[in-house]
Amino acid sequence: MKEQLNAIRIKFSQEIDEVQELQELENLRIEFLGKNGALTEILRGMGKLPKEDRPIMGALANEVRDELEAKIERRKEEIKESLLEEKIKSEWIDITLPGKKASIGHPHPSTLTIREIIDVFHSMGFVLEDGPEIETVLNNFDALNSPPDHPSRDMSDTFYFDEKHLLRTHTSPVQVRTMMKQKPPIRMISIGRCFRNDALDATHSPMFTQCEGLVIDEGITMGDLKGTLEQFVRLLFGADTESVFRPHNFPFTEPSAEVDITCFKCKGAGCRFCSGSGAIEILGCGMVHPAVLEHCGIDSEKYTGFAFGMGIERVAMLRYEIDDIRYLFENDQRFTRQFRR
Ligand code: DAH
Repeated sequence: MKEQLNAIRIKFSQEIDEVQELQELENLRIEFLGKNGALTEILRGMGKLPKEDRPIMGALANEVRDELEAKIERRKEEIKESLLEEKIKSEWIDITLPGKKASIGHPHPSTLTIREIIDVFHSMGFVLEDGPEIETVLNNFDALNSPPDHPSRDMSDTFYFDEKHLLRTHTSPVQVRTMMKQKPPIRMISIGRCFRNDALDATHSPMFTQCEGLVIDEGITMGDLKGTLEQFVRLLFGADTESVFRPHNFPFTEPSAEVDITCFKCKGAGCRFCSGSGAIEILGCGMVHPAVLEHCGIDSEKYTGFAFGMGIERVAMLRYEIDDIRYLFENDQRFTRQFRR
């Protein structure tokens, strides 16, 4: 029996070294220690031994069993460990590699310009008003003192729905809407899309964006107009930017002016950007015509005011040195991405 136990021990030692997987190990355990296992068979045969041999052989058999069990446990741990190591190796990630950046959007240059303009006028106490893109001919032209034969009213210039409705050609009708619903003092700006029957080229677009401003109160003068717009221009284009008020004609203002600013590229010396003039036209303005005030129910004897209007795309183009308005509408990401900050 002693030899048998020894043989089991040796066989087991050889086999367990080959075992690589937990299932194989379990099979081995069953082969030796299971119900019909080699060692169990021997223990079962113990009864047939002479009485005096039993304790010695019993002890020996138990020793072998303990040894086998301990070896199985150890091997089990080894296999588990190597499985874990393999898993760690296969799931390894290099946390020092730069991650994939989530692509988050950013404002369009026109939006950046709009926000800047709003900030400047907010700082001067202006309120933002809104108006519809589909307007009445009345608000877009008549209330703004535009004579029936004014060229801008022509079908070739303006998109009409019918005789009374059109796509607004400027944001000036928001002046009318504001004066109709609110008594002076008024200090508002409005920004939105406008439409004209223009062919698309580097400087024109049938759809564009305007910013309109209006101030109405007692005793408002041309001095207020100049001071406000000069301040606006300095805040937007830099403190050393000068404004020149050039006489002009608009039906809704009297007197009217266009404002040129010092070319910020050449500082007035003359360059390609300002076509050599040293100055760039940026907006139209004037003292609100009494006929406009009266149409909106405002006493033109008591109140005066000024108004102004400018193209957002034009300001954006100046601000960011964009030489073709179409870039602002095409949304080619090679262009827009340049404004990510
Ligand atoms: N509405 C004018 C345009 O579209 C811009 C403008 C000029 C608006 C003078 C005004 C203004 O309010 O006073 O060209």
